[in-house]
Amino acid sequence: MLLIRKFMPRDFQQILSIEEESFREHDPFLYMKLYETSSDGFLVAEKDGIVMGFVVGMLISESEGRIFSIAVSKKHRRSGVATLLVKELLDAFRRNGVTSVRLEVRKSNLIAQKLYQKLGFEMVGVAPKYYSDGESALIMRKIIDR
Ligand SMILES: CC(C)(COP(=O)(O)OP(=O)(O)OC[C@H]1O[C@@H](n2cnc3c(N)ncnc32)[C@H](O)[C@@H]1OP(=O)(O)O)[C@@H](O)C(=O)NCCC(=O)NCCS
Repeated sequence: MLLIRKFMPRDFQQILSIEEESFREHDPFLYMKLYETSSDGFLVAEKDGIVMGFVVGMLISESEGRIFSIAVSKKHRRSGVATLLVKELLDAFRRNGVTSVRLEVRKSNLIAQKLYQKLGFEMVGVAPKYYSDGESALIMRKIIDR
């Protein structure tokens, strides 16, 4: 059974391999730091002990949340795992009084943009040269009801 639950330190290795196959930039310590600072918003999708994907969200003010990172292992993509992770995170944000959620996504990452659009995020701006390789980010936002 697919389970969405909070990240636990024993997930670390599996998170790192998903990160490695998913992103161009890697920081092995980043996710442990995120666990220390944002453990409530660090969720994983697990099935039979296998971590299929993760999402990291954080509060940036009393009423605003941010999706910092999301990835699903290549093997388990396109089966709704990211959708489940984001929906669970949005529910957690809502329970904490968040009314607006923002995120940045690479301009070239059309797949992630489709995912977010499907979940009700809208483009609200562009952050030029946001990434260290010079690529710009689209800023997307979703207003959530209490
Ligand atoms: C983006 C990512 C997290 C999506 O994960 P996923 O579990 O495959 O997503 P879902 O199965 O929930 O798909 C939801 C929707 O996203 C879109 N989508 C997902 N994969 C897609 C693909 N390969 N092509 C086109 N659209 C796609 C579709 O609209 C899909 O809905 P549909 O299946 O009903 O058409 C995954 O591709 C990934 O890990 N990519 C690398 C890391 C990354 O880019 N993270 C985002 C950083 S901002």
